[in-house]
Amino acid sequence: MEQTFRNASTRDYARVSAVVNDWWGWDAVSMLPRLFFEHFADTSFVVEQAGTLQAFLIGFRSQSRPLEAYIHFVGVAPEARQHGLARALYERFFADSHAAGCRRVGCVTGPGNRASVAFHRRMGFEITTGDQIIDGIAVHSGYDGAGRDRVVFQRAI
Ligand SMILES: CC(C)(COP(=O)(O)OP(=O)(O)OC[C@H]1O[C@@H](n2cnc3c(N)ncnc32)[C@H](O)[C@@H]1OP(=O)(O)O)[C@@H](O)C(=O)NCCC(=O)NCCS
Repeated sequence: MEQTFRNASTRDYARVSAVVNDWWGWDAVSMLPRLFFEHFADTSFVVEQAGTLQAFLIGFRSQSRPLEAYIHFVGVAPEARQHGLARALYERFFADSHAAGCRRVGCVTGPGNRASVAFHRRMGFEITTGDQIIDGIAVHSGYDGAGRDRVVFQRAI
């Protein structure tokens, strides 16, 4: 069965938020409020197969930095992983962002999310210099508030 890629819409919010904690393995849904589906639908995508949600990407072009785009969330259903779906979503986002005038893409992840760190490296992202090194990875302490350290990625497009 063919996979279909399309832009996200507000109609996707309920079913995306329903799977996030399961797909991430921790309580990540609080970081994905509805506003992304209301205001960033044109730069966000969902992938379906036979009507079943397979993957999604939530991104936007920076309002403050016109040359920059940002990927806030990407998730792939556990049974659909390691088949290039996240790569396909990122490449689509890169192409659209470049066509709109952006030349860099950024994103952040928690230092404990090893799969995300490995995935972003494979996707050509560089880890920006932080203020500490954890397990060989540069980390920005308290980047998202007290106790919320982040690995910060940048990639040219
Ligand atoms: C991270 C995630 C999005 C990857 O999705 P995916 O569809 O399996 O990734 P792809 O198959 O497109 O992989 C792209 C590349 O990354 C690599 N990669 C993907 N997951 C990896 C992992 N866990 N460890 C090491 N490398 C990984 C692949 O080998 C591939 O490399 P290649 O194309 O050079 O051969 C998916 O595991 C996921 O949804 N995780 C839970 C949510 C999450 O943590 N999201 C990221 C933070 S917002």
